[in-house]
Amino acid sequence: MEGSIEILIPKEKVESRIKELGSIIAEDYKDKDLVCVGLLKGSVMFMAELTKNMNIDLAMDFMKVSSYGGGMDSTGVVKILKDVDEDLTGKDVLIIEDIIDTGLTIANVKDFLVKKMPNSIKVCSLLDKPSRRKVDVKGEYIGFEIPDEFVVGYGLDLDEKYRNLPFVGKFIQKK
Ligand code: IMP
Ligand code: MG
Repeated sequence: MEGSIEILIPKEKVESRIKELGSIIAEDYKDKDLVCVGLLKGSVMFMAELTKNMNIDLAMDFMKVSSYGGGMDSTGVVKILKDVDEDLTGKDVLIIEDIIDTGLTIANVKDFLVKKMPNSIKVCSLLDKPSRRKVDVKGEYIGFEIPDEFVVGYGLDLDEKYRNLPFVGKFIQKK
């Protein structure tokens, strides 16, 4: 797809907000048994930066879920393509996501992980587009609320491109 990218949140702003979030989460989880569960692949950069800013013991695990595709799927059920490796019984799970859009991914992942009997489950997302919500889910830790724009960078892709951009950019499609 042809287009250009306009910086929405510059690198310095992303990094300082992640630093802030990291210290808030570290304080909240200092006496807990934290497992950060990143959703592949979009959360990888955010999770790396976030956990570097958390001065507590934690474990990292990953899941991959299919996207439900095109909004045509009325059930909005996602498929689990990769489960976590570790036993989450009694653990304090923090799901790490790049962006909450319709909320369907997070709703499905939460339902799936609840069955593993963790002590708690919360959600941390770098970005949030609350205006696009189809199901009522909220992230407890949000980096930035953004308007309904398609964004790339800092892990987020367009057809697998632009994940490595060190900032969050708006993708402007060429007309
Ligand atoms: P949800 O299930 O609709 O909340 O969608 C979450 C997933 O859609 C994210 O993990 C992203 O992979 C993708 N997504 C939603 N909005 C954007 C965007 O603006 N840029 C890139 N990916 C997005
Ligand atoms: Mg994603």
